[in-house]
Amino acid sequence: MTEIAIRPLSDDLPFGARITGVARENSTDAGVRQQINDVFEKRGMIVFEHMEPSNALQMAVSEMFGPPQAYALTDVMEASDRVDTGVVEFEYGDVFEVDGQQLLSWLPWHFDACYTDKLNRGGILRAITIPPEGGITGFGDGIQLYNDIDPTLRARFEHLSIVYHTHLMFMNMRFGLPESVKPVSMGRAVTEMIAATKDAPRAVHPAIWTRPSGEKVLHVAPWQAAGIDGMLTPEGDELFAALIAEVHAKVIPYRHKWSPTDMVIWDNWRFIHSVSGNPPQYPRQMQRTTIAGDYGLGRMEIAGSAPPVGMDL
Ligand SMILES: [Fe+2]
Repeated sequence: MTEIAIRPLSDDLPFGARITGVARENSTDAGVRQQINDVFEKRGMIVFEHMEPSNALQMAVSEMFGPPQAYALTDVMEASDRVDTGVVEFEYGDVFEVDGQQLLSWLPWHFDACYTDKLNRGGILRAITIPPEGGITGFGDGIQLYNDIDPTLRARFEHLSIVYHTHLMFMNMRFGLPESVKPVSMGRAVTEMIAATKDAPRAVHPAIWTRPSGEKVLHVAPWQAAGIDGMLTPEGDELFAALIAEVHAKVIPYRHKWSPTDMVIWDNWRFIHSVSGNPPQYPRQMQRTTIAGDYGLGRMEIAGSAPPVGMDL
């Protein structure tokens, strides 16, 4: 059986690991699975390198961490529905101007499914078509953020929760859109999705939560955020905007430049992620699986309302 090798993601980051040697043959081995899940729990994200670039291995890696979440992507998404394999391709066709340059598929910091009560465990991401410039995925660690943000601000949010709404994506962001970023044009998928989600129910998640290890996680994101639960007021908005500014100032991101033989998993209960965008003339196509799960601390704003389904953002 092929041996796996584990090393830190980077000497100057307090999170993340790089693993080589994972193949379909050893992905079902109980010892290998335990070793990799321990690294995932502790380090929060893993870059698997020199992987066979196949759906079969992507699914096999995903299943090392748990069962896949079955998504039925709605027809508003310009994505191939691959529910049969659990692997989903996506591209959105939205253009932003970032620092004066037009970029396709720029995405701000976010965690996936924040607008539902249940948070999936994470995703396994793989690049199918890599643009020659840009297309970098950023990852930010909520434990690093909790430890490094201003203690006064941190104390203010210790027992506050944040409201998230699908309608506040892309051109409708209420918080954290940098002055250097302007929406230019949205693809059909985005426009239709935003229109369809105007009255979608909203979800609430704690700004800070405590892992079983005792470590605290600052888990907030500007994308889709409506504001602070119970403080959806100008004062509350000002406070949340200050927190997001602090996140932008203190996050120590890992920025992943893709190779076709990479696969990356991140802990969706701990990390935020983002996409740099790429020049619009170059296609960028990514493929992911989603690992089912929940950390149990989210809720729908109005108890009993059905969470939005069919999205993977
Ligand atoms: Fe995402």
